[in-house]
Amino acid sequence: MKACIIGLGNIATVHACVLNEQQIEIVDVCDVNVENAKAFMEKYCPNAKLYTDYKECIYKTTADVIHITTPHYLHKDMTVYALKLNKNVLCEKPLCISYEQLDEILTAEKSSKGKLGVCQQNRFNEASILLKKAIDGQKIKSAYGNLDWYRGENYYTSSDWRGRKDKEGGSVMINQALHTLDIMQWLLGMPEFCVAETCNLMHKGVIDTEDTATAVFLGENSFHFYASLNARTDHPINVSIEMENGDKYLMSGNDLFFNGQKQDTTCYAKMYGKSCYGSGHFKILQNFYNCVKMNKKFEIDGEEAGKVVKLILAVYKSKGEKVKV
Ligand SMILES: NC(=O)c1ccc[n+]([C@@H]2O[C@H](COP(=O)([O-])OP(=O)(O)OC[C@H]3O[C@@H](n4cnc5c(N)ncnc54)[C@H](O)[C@@H]3O)[C@@H](O)[C@H]2O)c1
Repeated sequence: MKACIIGLGNIATVHACVLNEQQIEIVDVCDVNVENAKAFMEKYCPNAKLYTDYKECIYKTTADVIHITTPHYLHKDMTVYALKLNKNVLCEKPLCISYEQLDEILTAEKSSKGKLGVCQQNRFNEASILLKKAIDGQKIKSAYGNLDWYRGENYYTSSDWRGRKDKEGGSVMINQALHTLDIMQWLLGMPEFCVAETCNLMHKGVIDTEDTATAVFLGENSFHFYASLNARTDHPINVSIEMENGDKYLMSGNDLFFNGQKQDTTCYAKMYGKSCYGSGHFKILQNFYNCVKMNKKFEIDGEEAGKVVKLILAVYKSKGEKVKV
């Protein structure tokens, strides 16, 4: 199998490490920053062909899968362009940043012979899989999730897209908290309504988006959620679930606790990049390439990845009012 990567920044290095380990050749790459692209290629794919125009790259590539690892606002155009050419796309999260973009992607996905997969890799972490199996079919009493991390001014000023509504689509919710929210809806089902507030507590004048959000999601299994980038360090993410029978599950970082007892979540897949990315990139790439090879349905397609986008857009829309998701 052969790969093409568009956008050779931070997360592309994780994709490239996994592809190298899985012996999937990276044949084409694309970035507008040629200097960075060359450094990337030297390390991961010295024989790849470099493009600076994504359309030319997508059109000409012979790769089996096109990885889209660019900033958020570019995901829709690149994904739709590739799907219209019947290419297989593995897009980084979030799939997109507006309802209109989501509609356009889902329409393109429906009429394409190409497959669309979205990199919500935390579903492939050992702790997530064990927790899903453990609570499957059982009655849930209460659940919450929280993310308390730190992103300073430099994180935003050193990037031309982070923290900007037009380019990132938001901040803590659509970027850092997306994975945890995705896990919660995957475990608990899609809520019907949301009541939320967002604010910028510590990044005024730096970003025009939220660094804090609190939300209640109402549905068959209601849950609440809190996310902030104002902690002094990155704390482990928590997903806490209490069952009707009194059993308590806590997923904290990459660990899982059942009634206070740590469960075995030893992962056999190597972790790349930050530990908060989990080990899921290895498995999600392996799974997506396998689906392409065997022509099987990939679990996190446009429809499935669109769910967390809808939850996040509902958080932004709510402004303290109850809104339909
Ligand atoms: N799944 C995860 O755990 C995870 C972790 C980190 C980042 N991400 C996601 O990955 C994506 C990229 O994040 P990042 O941190 O790697 O960003 P980054 O800014 O480090 O890299 C983005 C790259 O895209 C390139 N680019 C910009 N415009 C382009 C264009 N028109 N054509 C081609 N290349 C272009 C930039 O030059 C840069 O090299 C985001 O969607 C982010 O949310 C996912």
